[in-house]
Amino acid sequence: MAKMWAGRTDGLTDAVADGFNSSISFDSRMYRQDITGSMAHAAMLAKTGIITDEEARQLTEGLQGILDDIDSGALDFDMKAEDIHMFVEEVLTARIGDVGKKLHTARSRNDQVALDLRLCLKDFITELRAEVKKLISALAGKAAENTETIMPGYTHMQRAQPVSFAQHLLAYTAMFLRDCERLGDCLKRTDVSPIGCCALAGTGYTTDSFFEAAKLGMSSVCFNSMDGVSDRDFVVELISDISLIMMHMSRLSEELVLWSSWEFRFVELSDSYTTGSSIMPQKKNPDMAELIRGKTGRVYGDLMGTLTMLKGLPLAYNKDMQEDKEAVFAACDTVKACRDVMIPMIETMKVGADSKRRAAGEGFINATDLADYLTGKGLPFRTAYKISGSVVAACIAAGQTLETLPLETYRGFSELIDEGVYEAVNLDLCMSRRSSYGGTSVLATREQIETVKKELEKI
Ligand code: ARG
Repeated sequence: MAKMWAGRTDGLTDAVADGFNSSISFDSRMYRQDITGSMAHAAMLAKTGIITDEEARQLTEGLQGILDDIDSGALDFDMKAEDIHMFVEEVLTARIGDVGKKLHTARSRNDQVALDLRLCLKDFITELRAEVKKLISALAGKAAENTETIMPGYTHMQRAQPVSFAQHLLAYTAMFLRDCERLGDCLKRTDVSPIGCCALAGTGYTTDSFFEAAKLGMSSVCFNSMDGVSDRDFVVELISDISLIMMHMSRLSEELVLWSSWEFRFVELSDSYTTGSSIMPQKKNPDMAELIRGKTGRVYGDLMGTLTMLKGLPLAYNKDMQEDKEAVFAACDTVKACRDVMIPMIETMKVGADSKRRAAGEGFINATDLADYLTGKGLPFRTAYKISGSVVAACIAAGQTLETLPLETYRGFSELIDEGVYEAVNLDLCMSRRSSYGGTSVLATREQIETVKKELEKI
């Protein structure tokens, strides 16, 4: 069958070319936005006198019927259609006759597709932000239960200083809060209407882009028609924001994998979010966390693909841009699938407080505190640091810890050391001492939890 745009050509494209060109398999998910956009367009055409109120009524009713039928399953997408825009228009014209052909006045698929995608991503961003908030609440909730759960904090994957599990989890709330902020920022730039830019140059009809944008709940209108139809920055921004969310979830997943190993036993993931092995009966594998980590790579691919697709495009619309949707939808679907398992996995994990404490007691993570103690006795920090290091080496040689080393051995390193040293190296006290703003003491972490709550209210 000849295409709707037959005229300049016979519109009889090759079947393989049709399949190659068609985007309906992935842009049909924008059907609601496409139809809502068309309703606003019909209203604008009537308001400006380009069509009559009666014609607008017929168009709107026809569009509503299509929407209802797609929703109810009474109308299937025709996979032979070129894209969702053509499909809706073809069905509309078949249903209501020639008046359907008036809908595309003062509009092009170029501004139409840009509008549909913006409307679609606006909804997605709003939903994703709400879900990231839930993840933050889950982390803050676990943190609240663990302000006194001591564990080693690591640098270079070497035990470094005592921290609470709350402190560690709250670090992730900070990351995800930034993600929410970024999504909010991206939302602002997505919430701009391109409809009215038409093919690329605007239109000679007396239209009202502002009326149409307002009807669609869009905050502003693209101020340059060529940019309006060729801008996909909002797509890149969203995939980039999703990439960061994935990166944060991936780092957390990596820790969950490590922590649930028998070597660490810092957490035990719920049976619901682990799997067994087909051969090794003892296994409890953290597959979900591993998959989140693994899927992060795909999203980076979506970002790189989109950036690369755009980089050589002259203004204005080019068909290459049809590739944006598969990439952004894939990124959206991936982050959605990951957060859907991440949130309950965090909520249901059990904390191995004993293993954490044992690990905290074995790595000389109080050596800095010993140095600080000696500094308190009047030694310069560098000298104190050196003595503390020698004490650690002696402890390792003797199979001792800083908590168990006898006072006379201590005094062999410095006459300044007295009974007070045991208080200085007491792990709980080491933690509670770090009460600086953002620090790991119980009070400082409680304050952080309050901060997180306040930030969540603001979003
Ligand atoms: N399916 C196209 C896309 O996703 C719609 C716009 C087509 N515009 C055109 N002039 N052929 O980009």
